[in-house]
Amino acid sequence: MPIPVILDCDPGHDDALAILLAAASPELDLLAITTCGGNQTVEKCTINARRMCTVAGITGVPIARGAAGPLLGSLHIGEYVHGASGLDGPEWGEPTVPEAGENAHDLIVRILREHPEPVTLIPVGPLTNIALVLSAHPELKANIREIVLMGGSTERGNDTPYAEFNIRVDPEAADIVFRSGVPVTMCGLNITHQALATPDVIERLRALGTPMGDLCVELLTFFSASYLRTWGFTSPPLHDPVAVARVIDPSLVEVVSVPVAIETQGRFTAGATCVDLHHLTGEPDNALVATRLDAPRFWDLMIGAIASYE
Ligand code: BDR
Ligand code: CA
Repeated sequence: MPIPVILDCDPGHDDALAILLAAASPELDLLAITTCGGNQTVEKCTINARRMCTVAGITGVPIARGAAGPLLGSLHIGEYVHGASGLDGPEWGEPTVPEAGENAHDLIVRILREHPEPVTLIPVGPLTNIALVLSAHPELKANIREIVLMGGSTERGNDTPYAEFNIRVDPEAADIVFRSGVPVTMCGLNITHQALATPDVIERLRALGTPMGDLCVELLTFFSASYLRTWGFTSPPLHDPVAVARVIDPSLVEVVSVPVAIETQGRFTAGATCVDLHHLTGEPDNALVATRLDAPRFWDLMIGAIASYE
């Protein structure tokens, strides 16, 4: 039986590839794509999800718009990485896949209530939508099998020296998620930086000889320039699909069980994930934290998924 999942995202180049992977995988039953403000405004991220689904021919999955900004304060966007549209690089036409008639919060709540099996949530943007659902409906925690997220790091940050972008955008939401009691797996920068789109990967995508292969090359070419300019990476890391891959095949990602706390107050460190790898705090474990990726098998999975589109 495929695993029922909801992908909560802020497309975003790597989010767009996470959509492709989640929708193509027979191991998953993709029940919904929900969006939030993050890499760009929620309006742009929602259009981008619809754009990606339109070009991929993903028509049966509702796309619902979620939170415009974090629980506290105003939205800080990732335009410096993803461009003015949030998905810069390719020329996009008008999306024909519609937006759902229901917002992300109501759709997630309805799916959790109605689905016969507990549902896995895969948030790969700021955690605002998930925190709002957990806070408004604590009784639905039992209907969530697990939350497998992209965010945080066991090491340093990317959006600030100590904070990873998704957690930094909404630290209060991340705090709610990590303290929720729902099983959480954190795929942070320390592991997503092992998923590098090297020239060999780009060549394999080009060699597919398909419009989707070419589109992914265009997306990764823009993403690559951002990563070179901002962080000096010669190959960009494909963050968000790693969380999807962990749900498809847990053996791709090694994890350790540890306590994780979210820094919400720090003058220089707000949004940092304090990952207690050596159990120094005496706090109980509240997350599985990813430590190692089988990168060759990850890329076989990702490229296989892209190859399944025209
Ligand atoms: C995360 O931030 C965004 O830019 C990416 O989409 C990813 O989810 C990486 O820090
Ligand atoms: Ca993202």
